[in-house]
Amino acid sequence: MSKVKRNIEVCFSPALFSEYSDSEAIVVITDILRATSAIVTAFENGVDRIIPVGTLEEAKAYKEKGYMVAAERDGIVRDFADFGNSPYNFSPERVAGRQIVYSTTNGTQAIHVASKCNRVLIGAYLNFSALCNWLTVQDRDVIILCAGWKNKFSLEDSIFAGALSEKLLDSGKYRTICDSSLAAVDLWDKAKGNLLAYIEKAAQRERLRKNKLDDVIGYCHSFDTTEMIPALNGDHLKNLR
Ligand code: MLT
Repeated sequence: MSKVKRNIEVCFSPALFSEYSDSEAIVVITDILRATSAIVTAFENGVDRIIPVGTLEEAKAYKEKGYMVAAERDGIVRDFADFGNSPYNFSPERVAGRQIVYSTTNGTQAIHVASKCNRVLIGAYLNFSALCNWLTVQDRDVIILCAGWKNKFSLEDSIFAGALSEKLLDSGKYRTICDSSLAAVDLWDKAKGNLLAYIEKAAQRERLRKNKLDDVIGYCHSFDTTEMIPALNGDHLKNLR
């Protein structure tokens, strides 16, 4: 392992990703409320693979071929889909040993935007330590890509990006000269004393409340419930280890 510190950058929106994209880097996608929390949960509950697709037309075509499909837009389950985007939908009874096609408003779009990079990993609080431990022995630059909301900044993803940046910087293996990474760490420092209270401000928190889908807020902000690290492997996500 080289003694040279590797670089961390944070990209606050998929729309900005072309400015950060580096085919040699590892990209960590985060969509805390709720896509990446749901994906990590699915792997903890035994899913075999997840096929992330960008459009609802693609998701529907898979459904017509007999695949199990999870699909939502603006938080609402699509009528052709088997279920939506709540991590609680990805229960062991439903997902163990299965392949699931998945299409969401932001999270699966972010995965596609980054798909040409060296590695694309799925990050959430649920797999936080497993992810940090794996990254600190890789000797590669890391870009944390926040899925945001329809290409706009989102608080919950940016706070997570700060938590992950801080942990990687503390490992001594990484450095940053990226202002968005520094801003994310400052945001995390402000929020971490009472994360759930801070998240009350987030627009996605409010959207989920309005749609009565907010039973997952505490769960999605729980640390280290799993060692799973889903990673893109061709057209699908598989657990890394
Ligand atoms: C997404 O991927 O767009 C979000 O996670 C949407 C949601 O869960 O409401």
